[in-house]
Amino acid sequence: MKVFVSRSIPPEGLTALEAATGLEVSRNSQDQGLSPAELIKASQEAEGLLCLLTDKIDANFMAACPKLKVISNMAVGFNNIEVEAATRRGILVTNTPGVLTGATADLTFALLLAVARRLGEGERLVRSGGWEGWGPLQLLGGEVSGKTLGLIGMGRIGKAVARRAAGFDMKVQYYSRHRVAPDPESDPASNPAIRLVELEELLRTSDFVSLHAPYNPETHHLINAERLSWLKPSAYLINTSRGPLVDETALVAALQTQKLAGAGLDVYELEPKLAEGLAELENVVLAPHLGSATHQTRGEMARLAATNLVQSLQGQRHPNEVNPAALDKRA
Ligand code: GLV
Repeated sequence: MKVFVSRSIPPEGLTALEAATGLEVSRNSQDQGLSPAELIKASQEAEGLLCLLTDKIDANFMAACPKLKVISNMAVGFNNIEVEAATRRGILVTNTPGVLTGATADLTFALLLAVARRLGEGERLVRSGGWEGWGPLQLLGGEVSGKTLGLIGMGRIGKAVARRAAGFDMKVQYYSRHRVAPDPESDPASNPAIRLVELEELLRTSDFVSLHAPYNPETHHLINAERLSWLKPSAYLINTSRGPLVDETALVAALQTQKLAGAGLDVYELEPKLAEGLAELENVVLAPHLGSATHQTRGEMARLAATNLVQSLQGQRHPNEVNPAALDKRA
């Protein structure tokens, strides 16, 4: 069975593919994505594809790769793949949940702390040589301890952020389309009051709002101009999920007019492009999609993506199937 790996990935993934019997692995060994045409050319004979969130896997691609049976995305998010088109064609899509939860929750907190405590501005000041020493009014930021964190989405990553918030003495409330079953791990005795609230209440009453929902047509611009206007002027927005959950142009306008205090962003609407004016703002901390970027986590993601691919090609069922209905479509 032929499989194609779309870009250079951590060695754990390649080792897992090499250990599988009956696979003929080819790969793009560059640390640079392929163009859509190059990706089609390279995948045309493949039954399995291991791809990344930067690869757009749409209906055109699938039509041009008729042998494809499994698409293994090395990411928990899979909005880069047209899953309905895959299901119609009997192509199983898999993802890598779980292994990146801790790393992404850590980065969420890094951004939350950095934007509240004006770390980016302070770093730029020190590096510029313009720092003249400690001052009682210098770079005063927002308090974190004791403040209310509003989580939009309470899946694995939202819960892991809630656990970290308990350690910072924060109050936590969340909005989710579903009430999340009590989970002793994410709802520890030290922080028993994690409340489910309506989105409007969350936006109006939180000191920090952090997004942890998947991107799909229903969550497109979930944070739009009107909802940004509900935030407190002292509030901060954190996004480590997917850029298009936020209307980035509206966010820039809201930040420029101090409708909120700041934003910590890891993801962007048209990655890697930024909305006009965003990079010029001082009250933002901008990271280049680093949520899962630790050696350990990326190694685990690569290994899991490879294992998902091998198991699915061998007809073994596993919990990381995104569209199990695809299997019913197969003859
Ligand atoms: C990263 O953004 C992922 O979805 O894994």
